[in-house]
Order: sequence, then C-alpha cells, then structure tokens
Amino acid sequence: MTTILNGKLYADIIIEQLKTKVEKEQKKPKLAVILVGNNPASEIYVRNKQKKAQYIGFESVVITLENNISEENLLEQIYILNEDTNINAILVQLPLPQHIQTKKITEAIDPIKDVDGFTSYNFGRLILGYKPYSIPCTPKGIIKLLKYYNIDMAGKNTVVIGRSNIVGKPVSILLEQENATVTVAHSHTNNLKDLTLHADILISAIGKAKFITSEFIKNNSVIIDVGINRTENGLCGDVDYENVYKKAAFITPVPGGIGPMTIAMLMENTFELFKLQQNYLVL
Ligand code: GUN
Repeated sequence: MTTILNGKLYADIIIEQLKTKVEKEQKKPKLAVILVGNNPASEIYVRNKQKKAQYIGFESVVITLENNISEENLLEQIYILNEDTNINAILVQLPLPQHIQTKKITEAIDPIKDVDGFTSYNFGRLILGYKPYSIPCTPKGIIKLLKYYNIDMAGKNTVVIGRSNIVGKPVSILLEQENATVTVAHSHTNNLKDLTLHADILISAIGKAKFITSEFIKNNSVIIDVGINRTENGLCGDVDYENVYKKAAFITPVPGGIGPMTIAMLMENTFELFKLQQNYLVL
C-alpha cells in the first residue's frame, strides 16, 4: 500500500496552531514581500503567501517593483525594510530579473529579518550545525513532513536531484543532520538512474515535468516531489505520479504536497523572527 504524504493537511494544522499563537500576541508579526517584475508564477506564489499571512493574523505588505528597477534602487528598498522596526521578516521573491545579482540582494537583508535563511550568515550557520535565525522554507518543510509521517532518515540512502541554493543544497545539509547518507545529483551527473534506483528516499527538485518514472525508483521508497511545472495539461511535479504511485511506499502529490508546507514554513519562520526580535528588544 502506498501512503500519500499529505502536505496540505499538515500545513493546515501548522497554520491553525500559528493563528492561535498570533491571537495571543498584542503586537502582530509583519512580513514584507518584494516582488520584482511580472513573472506569472511568482505573482501567484506571492499572492498565496500574502493570503496565508492575512489569514493567520499577520500584518503583511507586498512591494511590487518594475522589472527594469536598478540593483541600487532595489537595495535601497531592502535597507528601508531593514531599518523599519515594524517589519519582522523580509522575503525577496526569486527569481530576479537577469540584470540583478541575486546574491547582492539576498545578502543585503538583515540576517534577523531573513525569513528565507538565504543570507550567508544564516546559511553558513546552517552548514556549520549552529542554529540559524531561519532555515530555508522548502527544505524545512520537507524534513517536517517526513518526521510527521514518522519516516526515519538515519542511515537511509537519500538522493537529492538538484543543487540549488533554495532547495537542493540546504535540504542535503538538513538530511545529513538527520543522519541520512546523502547523494546530490544534478545536470552533470552521469547515469542518474544508477543512483536513484538505490535511493530509499528520493527528492526531486529539477523542474522537469514527469521526468521521474517508475524505472528510476526503488521498490517501497519515499518519493518527495518539489517540482511545480506548468504544462498544457495544468500543474504537475517532476514525478510521473500515476506511473510511480504503486511502486513507492510514500509519495507527495503535486499540488498538495511540498508547496503548502513551504508556505507554512514561511509563516512559522515569520513568527519565530518576530519572537526573536521581541526578546532582543527586551534584552
Ligand atoms: N522562489 C521559489 N521558491 C522560493 C523561496 O522559497 N523563497 C524565495 N524568496 N523565492 C522563491
């Protein structure tokens, strides 16, 4: 029997718990999201994040900027948010337009407001095994969902496909911290199938619709699909779900798997930063 890893269900539980916590706070956490340009997927993600923040009782602001904004002006926006004591969490929606260096922008965010955990301060602390202010949302959501379903990672052969700073890299670190044996595969990997066929846990974050078919996966393995691909037939993951379903022991659906967990972790991170800043101000 295959178990569906219902990220939507668990995310909703986390959201309700956060809502209850926020009700008890006099001051409300405030999340600022910067959206540059008009990437349709980013627009949808940002709208969903804002809706969820409002539902929980957070304050939120979306700053929409022209696609041709200069790096300098974008940095200026971040400095303003860094200085604004009413803002607890800052997110710059990625990807950014080609003419802007992503690292310059993410590095400009004050680490205590870095809700994505993308600054070298937070990412460096994550790698070193020190507690960062925030852990990147998608990787954090993946680990939480595995734990919610009591899936033990210790000693498991785990293959991560993709090495991005947003998903592949940080999730490989978190998995290693759970004592998994981690292999990171990417576009230069030879004989991908040889690796994935031995994976007790397979995490795909490559953005190729239905790329992972049953020939890639081990019997009774755990399949985590991070892909959100827009095709003529609607949204689909990196995994050919119908084709793989019976062979897997656990599988995340798309939509309703890792996507909602990512948003829930963004909300959790916002609340945690808010509490940290409150304590800091009291000290
Ligand atoms: N674009 C896709 N995923 C993410 C994410 O987790 N954070 C940000 N800032 N941008 C993204």
